[in-house]
Amino acid sequence: MSAGRFDVAVIGAGAAGMMAAAVAGQRGLRVVLVEHAAKLAEKIRISGGGRCNFTNIGTTPANFLSQNPNFCRSALAAYTPRDFIDLVEKHGIRWHEKHRGQLFCDDSSESIIELLKRECDMGRVAWRMPCSVAELEHDKTDFVLRTSLGEIRAAQLVLACGGMAIPQLGATDFALKVARQFGLKVVEPRPALVPLTFDPEHWKAFGALSGVALEVGVTGGQGKGRAEFLEDLLFTHRGLSGPAILQISSFWNPGEPITLDLAPGRDLERELLVAKPGNRQQLNSVLSDLWPRRLAEQWLSNVDGVEHGVTSLRMADAPDRLLRRLAGQIHRWSLTPTGTAGYKKAEVMRGGVDTRGLDQKTMQAKAVPGLYIVGEALDVTGWLGGYNFQWAWASGMACGRALQAK
Ligand code: FDA
Repeated sequence: MSAGRFDVAVIGAGAAGMMAAAVAGQRGLRVVLVEHAAKLAEKIRISGGGRCNFTNIGTTPANFLSQNPNFCRSALAAYTPRDFIDLVEKHGIRWHEKHRGQLFCDDSSESIIELLKRECDMGRVAWRMPCSVAELEHDKTDFVLRTSLGEIRAAQLVLACGGMAIPQLGATDFALKVARQFGLKVVEPRPALVPLTFDPEHWKAFGALSGVALEVGVTGGQGKGRAEFLEDLLFTHRGLSGPAILQISSFWNPGEPITLDLAPGRDLERELLVAKPGNRQQLNSVLSDLWPRRLAEQWLSNVDGVEHGVTSLRMADAPDRLLRRLAGQIHRWSLTPTGTAGYKKAEVMRGGVDTRGLDQKTMQAKAVPGLYIVGEALDVTGWLGGYNFQWAWASGMACGRALQAK
């Protein structure tokens, strides 16, 4: 084997790429990892508010969106959250569960980067970083990469370049371009786990609520792609954010409404009718017992269909039908976003390389022997809460175990 030739070239030293490279290297394969950024694994570093929500112990295939929903089953079953926790503990990293099965580092996400780096070192992985790939082709035996650090030849190629979220950290559509170059199909990519935005004129009044947060039920999407979450909502200057909105954004399609239940788990109609007799409080102060005062006032004065002047109406004077309608509107506030905050603010990309062209046990392209694709570049998108890293580990592991010495 010549000095510049490897069994495997992995492009992208993020979560999935380092996992695949380390596993293949530890099996004795000659692996080179090519990364164009100057700083390693920036997305891991900033993830989970700097503590990396590295997995979710409740992970199942149902926590992922894909045009091919069964594709992720095999890899997720072969490498579980428990397997990654064992690796985390082997490296002495302390962790805790925060919310609904989400596991975070006690200290810093840096420790997960260090873990992956050490695992790569154990596999004697060669690094080319920072290094950009100008051209890529397959001759009769090898993938040939023309890079800023010279030519690299490898019998197998792993695309681990992630998705397009946060381009300011080096995210690109490189994996999609290369996949297309080799004849693979791509499911239209879109920003996901992303804030939703509204018409600036229409949103002016609610923009004043920027910073207000509350727990809501949120519903969105259509048909089989319909979903419902109970999470926190955050008002922003341009629209809505917070976990509830990030979750539903992955299911939302342009032009569709989302529906918010602003008083989840309560029967507001009954509560308002019971509270009415002899009650001299104004409607807005009754709602202020339920919500932050600013929200109660803005909502009553600005939601379509709520009559002008009801804010100061005394409860005892409010007709039952008004209270009923108000309760209905609070439990089912329907609003149509005009867009998303885009890849600059998205946590992930939805869509990606169509998994129907890949083997689900190995991540190898069926029509292009030797070409593997892992992680977020694939059309497998996890919910918010550690699922996307679990997919990166599991798909990286499946690929790392399948690569061969050539
Ligand atoms: P990843 O993006 O990690 O790595 C891809 C690598 O390829 C990068 O290093 C990139 O520089 C490199 N690359 C791209 N193009 C290239 C090219 N042309 N040549 C060479 N290299 C190239 N998930 C989760 O489960 N828990 C969490 O807490 C969070 N938190 C979070 C916060 C924020 C702000 C974001 C943006 C995202 C998250 N995520 C998350 C999502 C998670 O970070 C993401 O799904 C995984 O990092 C995907 O792993 P990959 O290895 O596929 O891509």
